[in-house]
Amino acid sequence: MAFFHGRIMPLAEAQVSVATHALQYGTGCFEGIRAYWNEGRQNLYLLKAAEHYERFEDSCRMIRITCPYSVEHLLEATRALLKTGGFRQDVYIRPVAFKASQVIKLTLRDLRDDVAIYAVPMGNYIDVDGLRAMVSAWVRVSDNAIPARSKLTGSYVNMALASDDAHEKGYDEAILLGADGHVSEGAGSNLFMVRRGTLITPPVTADILEGITRSIVMELAKEKGIPVAERPIDRTELYLADEVFLTGTGAQIAPITEIDGRMIGSGCRGPVVERLQDVFFQTVRGDNPDHQDWVMPVYD
Ligand SMILES: Cc1ncc(COP(=O)(O)O)c(C=O)c1O
Repeated sequence: MAFFHGRIMPLAEAQVSVATHALQYGTGCFEGIRAYWNEGRQNLYLLKAAEHYERFEDSCRMIRITCPYSVEHLLEATRALLKTGGFRQDVYIRPVAFKASQVIKLTLRDLRDDVAIYAVPMGNYIDVDGLRAMVSAWVRVSDNAIPARSKLTGSYVNMALASDDAHEKGYDEAILLGADGHVSEGAGSNLFMVRRGTLITPPVTADILEGITRSIVMELAKEKGIPVAERPIDRTELYLADEVFLTGTGAQIAPITEIDGRMIGSGCRGPVVERLQDVFFQTVRGDNPDHQDWVMPVYD
């Protein structure tokens, strides 16, 4: 099922023309939200859904899309969609807003906008036990080219090129550097490293998406007494790090055990990432009493 044109309909009916502006030029934006199934409570929990829809509205503003729905409306539409689908497993929700006019013109103005939401079952998108990654030759798009802080559909070609190249070379994941040579992020995930007991991640000015899982991980780490720093990271610091891992709605918390053929730390999942994964997976299923406000039940 999909939410499209303001109502819930079969996904097969939620269609657009090949002449759609967003299909031609990548003039759209999207979100990725997870809902986790809790078997004990027989309920599905949306994780930080309001924050995702706030970022969605920011992305819409960036690309001059007028989203006709408030965050509250989008949250209710999402719950209705999941209820209609009767999901009783982990789900990935994909809201998308796009320039819908059938116009051949490079502009963002005077075009019709459309919004859709659909959901698919999703378990672990990437391995959460230990990944082999490479530093990509593809450079992350810079803020003055295509702003990485917004989830703009067209900008994901950058990630697809890097990811495809990494897979072609036999790696699981790509790590992208920014135009200044510092580490930016993974192909669809934020990056953290642990060096001498401190959890370090690139700042929001490093051409990254300001990840919601990134914020969750920083907050959970602080609560566990782990020092957290946001600062530029050199590529070679990755080789010397005790631990490196990726975070994201799709990736969740995914340790990297090898980069460019060099073993990271002991070559297996490190103690810091293990602690964070434990509390993260408890939290996202609605089982962390300290963070009930991070999750929203779908079924009443
Ligand atoms: C480029 C990029 N960076 C980082 C992330 C992680 O962000 P979040 O934790 O909000 O999902 C994503 C996607 O989810 C992404 O597409």
